[in-house]
Amino acid sequence: MKSIQSIHSLKAGVIGTGFIGPVHVEALRRLGVTVTAICDVADLGAKAAARLAIPHAFADYRDLLTSPEVDVVHITTPNRFHCEMSLAALRAGKHVVCEKPLAMNTRETARIVAATRAAKRVFAVNYNVRFYPAVLALRRLVEHGDLGDIIHVNGSYMQDWLFKGTDYNWRLLPKEGGKLRAVADIGTHWMDTVSFILGAGIQSVLADLATWHKTRQRPLGEVQTFAKADAKMKYATYRVQTDDFASVLLRFANGARGNLGVSQVAAGRKNCIRIEIYGSKKSAWWCSEEPETLHFGNRDGANESAVRATPAFGDGAAGLMDYPPGHVEGFPDTFKMNFRNIYTAIAGGPGERLFASANDGHQEVAVCEAILKSNQARKWVSVL
Ligand SMILES: NC(=O)c1ccc[n+]([C@@H]2O[C@H](COP(=O)([O-])OP(=O)(O)OC[C@H]3O[C@@H](n4cnc5c(N)ncnc54)[C@H](O)[C@@H]3O)[C@@H](O)[C@H]2O)c1
Repeated sequence: MKSIQSIHSLKAGVIGTGFIGPVHVEALRRLGVTVTAICDVADLGAKAAARLAIPHAFADYRDLLTSPEVDVVHITTPNRFHCEMSLAALRAGKHVVCEKPLAMNTRETARIVAATRAAKRVFAVNYNVRFYPAVLALRRLVEHGDLGDIIHVNGSYMQDWLFKGTDYNWRLLPKEGGKLRAVADIGTHWMDTVSFILGAGIQSVLADLATWHKTRQRPLGEVQTFAKADAKMKYATYRVQTDDFASVLLRFANGARGNLGVSQVAAGRKNCIRIEIYGSKKSAWWCSEEPETLHFGNRDGANESAVRATPAFGDGAAGLMDYPPGHVEGFPDTFKMNFRNIYTAIAGGPGERLFASANDGHQEVAVCEAILKSNQARKWVSVL
């Protein structure tokens, strides 16, 4: 019989100390997992280790991978490093939690899927939005048929941190982030979340991609994610080759239709994901700006709202919430709950694997490639 270890005996190492790396560290610590090692280029790893009180710091990720002090590797570097680092981590016998999107294209993601299968290690992609309690509740409602047959899904993912022509980040460059930007960076969160709720993947797409800032100003020197422009900065002009915003029509494997709006130039929307599911019995909708409340729409009776962790909310998020109603669980908690689910699987513990697998990450990149093709051909394209 397979033995079950405690998740507290597992040791984590994190590669990348920018915006999201420290979010991983914090979530792991809230679960009681020890973060033993951290890595970033030049002296950034050592600085983060001092700031976050992590015992081992590395400037070369390959040194972190050979450390016996690391069981699980978290990859929180820009997208172009994900494939190389994932394959190396699996070769080193580590379990992996890789940030989204899984890699730059499906050639890379297919290699990760094959390597995961061969390595017999747990590989997770950090589609953390799955772990908002409302998303887990919606998934259960759909599974139980409470909404009826799903007719269509509507929604968006809107941000404004790349609103100005002087806003800069590596994601704007295809060689760093991939050929798609807004769609790959945030659109895949929405598509993964909705596929997860419906239990049905995306089969075909019709996409319209657009770039508002045809040229942008790049600050000379590196800039951290979400950093604001500074009057003293010097800039160089460059041509933008990636999408600022997009509209995508979707067909899901269960017959449902969807329409998704994505934008990183939507003033006032800081980080807003909105999902509306219209079923043959009733509809349900949720927005991350108001994460604790699920709304239900009825044709004849009054519409209803359910507060998280109350009976009306349902039991879909049972075991993946820690706070009573009225004590908001939000973005950082989704990381904690995702990691709880992943580390429980690594430890051989019980329960359904709800986290996104390497194959799920591969599927999202395949949808991105279909979206790119559809935009170029101006027609519906099947997801291969
Ligand atoms: N799940 C989410 O909600 C979420 C949110 C933000 C970012 N992300 C993903 O996380 C990843 C990182 O994004 P970010 O916003 O934190 O970027 P960032 O630029 O803020 O941080 C990236 C860090 O990686 C480091 N790095 C670059 N090359 C490296 C190398 N060879 N070895 C070690 N470190 C290296 C950089 O120096 C930097 O500190 C991206 O894939 C992004 O899509 C996910």
